[in-house]
Amino acid sequence: LENGLARTPPMGWMHWQRFRCLIDCEIYPDECISDKLFRTMADHMVDDGYLAAGYEYIMIDDCWSAKERDSNGRLQPDPDRFPYGIKNLSDYIHSKGLKFGMYADYGTKTCAGYPGSILHLEQDANTFAEWEIDYLKFDGCYSDWQFVDVGYIQMSKYLNATGRPIVYSCSWPAYQEPNDMKSNYTSLAEACNLWRNWDDIDDGWANVTGILDWFSANQDRIAPFSGPGHWNDPDMLIIGNYGLSFEQSKAQMAIWAVMAAPLIMSVDLRTIEPQFRDILQNKDVIAVNQDPLGVMGRLVLKRNNIDVWTKPLLAKKKGGRAYAIGIMSRRVDGYPYRLGFTLKELNITNTKGFHVKDLFNKSQKSYSVSDSETIFLRVKPTGGILLFVTPK
Ligand code: GLA
Repeated sequence: LENGLARTPPMGWMHWQRFRCLIDCEIYPDECISDKLFRTMADHMVDDGYLAAGYEYIMIDDCWSAKERDSNGRLQPDPDRFPYGIKNLSDYIHSKGLKFGMYADYGTKTCAGYPGSILHLEQDANTFAEWEIDYLKFDGCYSDWQFVDVGYIQMSKYLNATGRPIVYSCSWPAYQEPNDMKSNYTSLAEACNLWRNWDDIDDGWANVTGILDWFSANQDRIAPFSGPGHWNDPDMLIIGNYGLSFEQSKAQMAIWAVMAAPLIMSVDLRTIEPQFRDILQNKDVIAVNQDPLGVMGRLVLKRNNIDVWTKPLLAKKKGGRAYAIGIMSRRVDGYPYRLGFTLKELNITNTKGFHVKDLFNKSQKSYSVSDSETIFLRVKPTGGILLFVTPK
C-alpha cells in the first residue's frame, strides 16, 4: 500500500501469542488484556532498549472490546479492563515515543467472538482514527473467505479517507491459502502494508519450521510482492517464551531477518531472559531485516537437513551486492554439525571474493573467502546462523 508507511518491515510488540484472550483480571491481574498490561509493556519497550533497537509499534490484538457495540453502534473497550478508554491509552503510548496499533475483524465477529466490523467499516475506521491508532490488524474470521478481498479493500479506502496514516495489516490470504485458494497478491500489495499469508504461530519449534515449509514452497509466487510499503508476514516472533531454545531462537530471528518479515515480538518483557533480549535486539541482524532494498530472501539450498536462505542487500560495492545468508538446522543429532558450501553454490559470485561475518558471534572476526572456496560452519542442533557477506 503506497501510504508512505512501512518502508521497511514493521517492528513492534503484539499481545496475542503470549497473552491470548486472557481476560480474567481477578485471577491474573498482571497478565490479563487490560490498560495496565499495555502501559507496562510500553514502559519496558522504552526502558529496556527495544524502541532504540527499532521496535516502535505496540499493538492490542483480539479481546480488548466489550461484547457489544455502544448505543451508537461504535466499538467500545471492555469497561473494566480499559477504564480510561482507548484514546487515553493511545495518548500514553504516544507520550513514550511509541506508535499504537489495534485489532479488528472484517467478519460478523472477531476470531475470539467479539463484535465484527462487517456492517460498520466506515464507522470503525473513523473510530480508530479518533483514537489515533497508527496500525490496524484486520482479521478475517466469520467472513466468506472466498470473497473477503472486497471488504478488505473497502476498509483500506475508509482508513485512507480518515487522513490519518495507519499501517494496514490484512489477513485474507491466511483464510484463502489454507483452503487451497491462491490469493491475489497484486491487490494485497495495493491495498495493504502487510498481510498474514498462513497459519498462526504457536509457541513451538514445529510452528516455526512448519511456517517456513509453506513460505519456502511458495516463495517464487509470493516473494516478488514483498517490498517497501508491502510485506509478506509469517507471523509473530516467539523468542523469549516457553517453546524455543536459545539456538532455535537465533534460527527464527535469522530466517525472519532474511525473509524481510515484520518483526513483531510477543513475549512478556518483564520476565524475558537477557540472552533472548539480546537476540531480539541484535543490531546487525535487525539491519539485515530492515535493509532498504526490501527483498524477501529465499531458500536456496537444502543440505544435510540444514536450510540455507539468501537475501540480497542494498549495500553495493564495485564487486557487486552484499548478501545475508540465513542458516537453520533441522538436525537433532547432538553435536554442532559441520556444514560446507561455496558462495557460488548460492549464486553469490565475485572474482575478488568476499568478506564473511557471523552476526550472532561477536567474538569471531570476519574472514575472507573466494566464491568457490568451501565455507565450513558448525551448526548446532536446530540452531541458526546469520552471515553477512560483502564483496571485496
Ligand atoms: C486469528 C489471528 C491471530 C489472532 C487471533 C485472535 O487466529 O490469526 O493472529 O489475532 O485470531 O483471536
